[in-house]
Amino acid sequence: MGERNLERELTLEFVRVTEAAALAAGRWMGRGDKEKADEAAVTAMRRMFDTVQINGIVVIGEGEMDEAPMLYIGERVGTGTPPEVDIAVDPLEGTNIVAKGLTGAISVLAAAPRGCLLHAPDMYMEKIAVGPRAAGKISIDAPVEENIKSVADALGKKPEDLTVVILDRPRHETLIQRVRKMGVRIQLIPDGDVAPAVAVGFEESGVDMLLGIGGAPEGVIAAAALRCLGGEMQARLWPVDDEDVERAREMGIEDLDRVLMMDDLVKTDDVVFAATGITDSSLLRGVHYTSWGARTHSVVIRGLTGTVRFIEASHFFSRKPEYARPC
Ligand code: FBP
Repeated sequence: MGERNLERELTLEFVRVTEAAALAAGRWMGRGDKEKADEAAVTAMRRMFDTVQINGIVVIGEGEMDEAPMLYIGERVGTGTPPEVDIAVDPLEGTNIVAKGLTGAISVLAAAPRGCLLHAPDMYMEKIAVGPRAAGKISIDAPVEENIKSVADALGKKPEDLTVVILDRPRHETLIQRVRKMGVRIQLIPDGDVAPAVAVGFEESGVDMLLGIGGAPEGVIAAAALRCLGGEMQARLWPVDDEDVERAREMGIEDLDRVLMMDDLVKTDDVVFAATGITDSSLLRGVHYTSWGARTHSVVIRGLTGTVRFIEASHFFSRKPEYARPC
């Protein structure tokens, strides 16, 4: 653990980092090229990190050093001055979403003192996530019907009043059938389970619960936001082959069946979560370009105080030419 809390001022610095990535990726919306969109986001995020006064190490990023030129696991980011922090990033969460111009892509990061974020291997994870009012009422080991009843009770709603988000994947066929049988409303999403997992932490988002199997790194990033908001995520790694098992072992995770509770995913309240919308979602508006530049919509949450700030920013390209065109 670092010796100092994450300074308040850093929250705005982190928003600058996700804004930069969103502004760069937003240019690629609907252009059918997810690689270019991702590359633009990664380059812009990496560049902006150079200005942030932290001694950061990427623990969740774009992959291993030999797979990714920037924001790879173990890369040092920031100016190298204290505080010592671990950084989890997804410069473009939802590459297909941006390529197709759909809703729900965000640029996102979480930061916490050294050793406080689970070094999640790049594999699948089963997740259940709820907001503060239903925290403590769920169990990933319980049948889905039981969890739905518990969440409905906690929110003072009937099951048919709930909205559950599930990734639209064949692996979720049975889960979807069971949830539908209870009359629960479902939002099937094509990609991008971080934004809805965070959205369950905000009652006004209209999203009550996230269920299903998605990326493990994405799970830890979303758990950071839920930790700040007083919500809850429970998770379990979901290996598909021996390589996944090996990958998990390399990251120090031996028992793959273990339920990962909030304290396993994010060990401290001293965590900061920042995200900027790339395309519109239930959490954030996407980047909107104007005659003079662009507007971005971000959220930054500080776990120690629980303060949530939604930040609408106007970026004037005549003064920031680097955002004017795709990288
Ligand atoms: P990318 O941003 O890497 O494209 O991932 C998006 C995503 O949809 C995540 O939000 C989700 O957790 C994961 O991929 C689901 O994986 P898969 O598409 O293999 O089901």
